[in-house]
Amino acid sequence: MKGIVLAGGSGTRLYPATLAVSKQLLPVADKPMIYYPLSVLMLAGIRQILIISTPHDLPHYKRLLGDGSQFGLQLDYAEQPEPKGIAEAFIIGAGHVGDDSVALILGDNVFHGHAFSQVLTENARSVDGCVLFGYPVRDPQRFGVAELDVNGELVSIEEKPANPRSDLAVTGLYFYANDVVDIAKNLLPSERCELEITDVNRAFLDMGRAKLVELGRGHAWLDTGTPGALLQAGQYVHTMEERQGVRIACLEEVALRMGFVDADACYQLGQKCATSSYGQYIMSIATAYGANPARASRASS
Ligand code: DAU
Repeated sequence: MKGIVLAGGSGTRLYPATLAVSKQLLPVADKPMIYYPLSVLMLAGIRQILIISTPHDLPHYKRLLGDGSQFGLQLDYAEQPEPKGIAEAFIIGAGHVGDDSVALILGDNVFHGHAFSQVLTENARSVDGCVLFGYPVRDPQRFGVAELDVNGELVSIEEKPANPRSDLAVTGLYFYANDVVDIAKNLLPSERCELEITDVNRAFLDMGRAKLVELGRGHAWLDTGTPGALLQAGQYVHTMEERQGVRIACLEEVALRMGFVDADACYQLGQKCATSSYGQYIMSIATAYGANPARASRASS
């Protein structure tokens, strides 16, 4: 399975914070926002990932993440000149997807939860149409909304309905079979002139190939779209990290735990941020995993 992180758009609801900086590069607690969706793809076992952003912002993502080899990833980059809709990611990324299945995640979505990696890998393995992830919210009219029947089967999906049929928001994480690329290429723009991800999902639903996995209690799906929501997401992450002494979406740690890099390589990544508590955390995790600090330091010098 290939991965795509869509990190374009103009983030106008966060102006002036996003006048000069891409929204998905703003910090959520101690790390750039894009670390969170990237970590989700990594936890699903995905290593070939395309990052899509605006021509103006893409160089900053390249500077931050490089070719991804430090995390045992292959990162590629592509431009979306105008925000013409989430589903355009599959047209821009058609070459990257190739003959594979694909996971798309929005670059501003923050997930955290118990046994999330297991939920992700199980569903990534079995994707035969589309797999959506639903999360109950108080304000469903702001999102794609899924309706389930009494047997828990998905029966409808609507984009930002005025009168939602349920409180189940469709989150910004989607797994698809390869024909999503053809479906996206055949979409017509909506009234707001966007290629809608909800229309893609409806196409799979109409074929009887759409499934929704409910993320309930035990999971957090956090908003970052407004200054207040961004602050709350940061507070959530900070509170969890302080309380438990573990980091959420620490890419170096995820790479180590997923077996994408070895302990010495992880230690070296920590050394690059050694003056921050984030770097010190990575070095301590790597040491617990058997890194040899002297050997790792020699290898990096
Ligand atoms: O977050 C989940 C929701 O994301 C879903 O429930 C909705 O069904 C889906 O349409 C989407 O709704 P949003 O209102 O959040 O979409 P928005 O236009 O704000 O775009 C979400 C992110 O994707 C945002 O960070 C910008 C980025 N984006 C968006 C578009 C339309 C792009 O990079 N390119 C685009 O063309």
